[in-house]
Amino acid sequence: MQRIENIQLATMAAEETGYGIIADAVVIIENDRIYWAGPASEAPVSAPAELIDGHGQLLTPALIDCHTHLVWAGSRAAEFAQRLHGASYADIARAGGGIATTVKATRAASFEHLLQLAEQRAHALLEQGVGALEIKSGYGLELQTERKQLQVARELGQRLPLTVTTTLLAAHAIPPEFEGNADGYIDEIVNNILPTLAEEGLVDAVDAFCESIGFSVEQTERVFKAAQQLKLPVKLHAEQITNQQGTALAARFQALSADHLEQLDESGVKAMAENGTVAVLLPGAFYFLRDTQVPPVELLRRYGVPIALATDANPGSSPIHNLPLMLQMGATLFRLTPEECLRGVTINAAKALGLSKRLGQVKTGMQANLALWDVKDPAELSYQFGVNPLSKLWLNGDVHGHADRQ
Ligand code: NIG
Ligand code: FE
Repeated sequence: MQRIENIQLATMAAEETGYGIIADAVVIIENDRIYWAGPASEAPVSAPAELIDGHGQLLTPALIDCHTHLVWAGSRAAEFAQRLHGASYADIARAGGGIATTVKATRAASFEHLLQLAEQRAHALLEQGVGALEIKSGYGLELQTERKQLQVARELGQRLPLTVTTTLLAAHAIPPEFEGNADGYIDEIVNNILPTLAEEGLVDAVDAFCESIGFSVEQTERVFKAAQQLKLPVKLHAEQITNQQGTALAARFQALSADHLEQLDESGVKAMAENGTVAVLLPGAFYFLRDTQVPPVELLRRYGVPIALATDANPGSSPIHNLPLMLQMGATLFRLTPEECLRGVTINAAKALGLSKRLGQVKTGMQANLALWDVKDPAELSYQFGVNPLSKLWLNGDVHGHADRQ
């Protein structure tokens, strides 16, 4: 047992808003679970436990990055330069670059090389206090490479103390083999790629890119129906560049989340609220693509849609492996409050992964994924950036990484 004392605790357990602060708290860890969490005055006398003095620092759930494309090879720096000369993200995609560039490099890369690249990125997140992350495929666009990406994601979850969930994003772009035949590629996904990889236990959720430069609502629906038959939850890249009404479709399939959402309208927000779909906002992609249309945060608040924040770490639209930066950008670019930002990478990120029963809050029975921060006010976590305030990180009850600064 470990008994953490002398801490300010942000349980993140409050239902609607706020941090769920307990000014002087105790948290008791037993093996990989939280045995007890609450005010020091009510703490049980625990069995002989290792005592940890928190020195008045802030304890929160370990952070969760609920939308990443971490497994990829190659570089898109040259395309970034093209964008600086005036080409748009969509122009580059239409000219055969963009996602297709990364697909070529990822198909050519060995499992070991992909693992090495992804491990470096995951390690960077771990050092920032991230304890769980979602990893999507989508840079293979054929069975073998989609499998390779998901296997790398699973292997990362073995090698590092991170909780990793996998999402099949085969419907990310049309592969060269199916050029001009998007429906044919959807056939291949629903008849072969999805059932095969699901059978192999590699798929925790299914995603698609519903967009003018991606797949139509009808094509997305076919993928969702196939996922539903396999009892897999869905999520969607929706309303990023144009409004395709993909969010309403996702909500109809009780999607865990709809992500990006810059172009989302009120009917889409309403559909999300009615179906418990989380809004995953991705300020890194908004920033890197120099988008100007902010997601409808006020509407999301009004309808009570839970908001999550994630890195969208990927080579094209968000080459940013930094979740704390997303808190600051969530606040500066989307005007989220610091409470909303922290909820966005804890309780609501857990909801977006379907893991809210075990992650994202500090309460009895949850997985002991905890982060201790050398800050007084939780708003510091959305405010300053560039100095790492993490002083201790527990994952599954074990202390990890980072120098212990107490
Ligand atoms: O989440 N929108 C599609 N997928 C990624 C970008 C992928 C890429 O450009 O490589 C995204 O923004
Ligand atoms: Fe994405």
